[in-house]
Amino acid sequence: MEVIIKKDYSEICEEAVNVIHRSWHKKRNLVLGLATGKTPLGVYEGLIRLYSERKMDFSDVSAFSLDEYLGLPEDHPQSFAFYMQHNFFRHINIPRDNIFRLDALPGDIETHCREYEKKIQSAGGIDIQILGIGKNGHIGFNEPSSSLSSRTRVKTLTQETIEANAHFFRDREDIPRYCLTMGIGTIMESRKILLLASGKEKAEAIRQSIEGSITASIPASILQLHPQAKFIIDAEAASQLTQRKYYEWVYDHKDKVDAFLANKKK
Ligand code: PGA
Repeated sequence: MEVIIKKDYSEICEEAVNVIHRSWHKKRNLVLGLATGKTPLGVYEGLIRLYSERKMDFSDVSAFSLDEYLGLPEDHPQSFAFYMQHNFFRHINIPRDNIFRLDALPGDIETHCREYEKKIQSAGGIDIQILGIGKNGHIGFNEPSSSLSSRTRVKTLTQETIEANAHFFRDREDIPRYCLTMGIGTIMESRKILLLASGKEKAEAIRQSIEGSITASIPASILQLHPQAKFIIDAEAASQLTQRKYYEWVYDHKDKVDAFLANKKK
């Protein structure tokens, strides 16, 4: 696990974009796991910029969505399918066949979830999973108390999430109450995980995830067990970390350590 503290939102997005760009240089058929929400928007904008400047090409890249509301048609402006299409896919050259989504209206839910997991395996597994974090420490729609080894499945949204969504829907009846989400076990199988967080309202969840005990009460705390997880967070989100100076020192010396190790190999 690595903790990278940057000044502000635009810098955390830039850091994540650089990680993805570097990985793509090493593997053109990169498999990405993508999250929705406010936080990753700047990452998608950065990747679109690289594409428009011809510095990155998505023709061999694949993408898997992290979660989806159950029951919303994919052209509903609140569906995650719509979000991804609108904010990312329509601006780049990723082939339609390389886009994998959880279906909001699946025939048989269990079969659909099992097949989604199989598709991830068939693509060779997820190389980089992008995550946001909820104020309660959730990742994807894995709310507190989700099994830390869970797989892709149906979850009931918390009342808090339902209320937070209420203003997006004209009719209360239309507010989704259930969703599909990759499980925590599924997420943990990704080769690299980038969790982004910005703002004071995420500071407590970030502190508990990085410096607290590993617990299903804070699902993101499981990332402490992932050897390639990076928490990329801004100063406000980092404001409650007690070891902040240490994380900054490690990050500032990273290039020197890499140079030292490279020298040793010669
Ligand atoms: P946000 O959501 O990026 O909109 O803050 C993150 C999350 O709830 O996972």
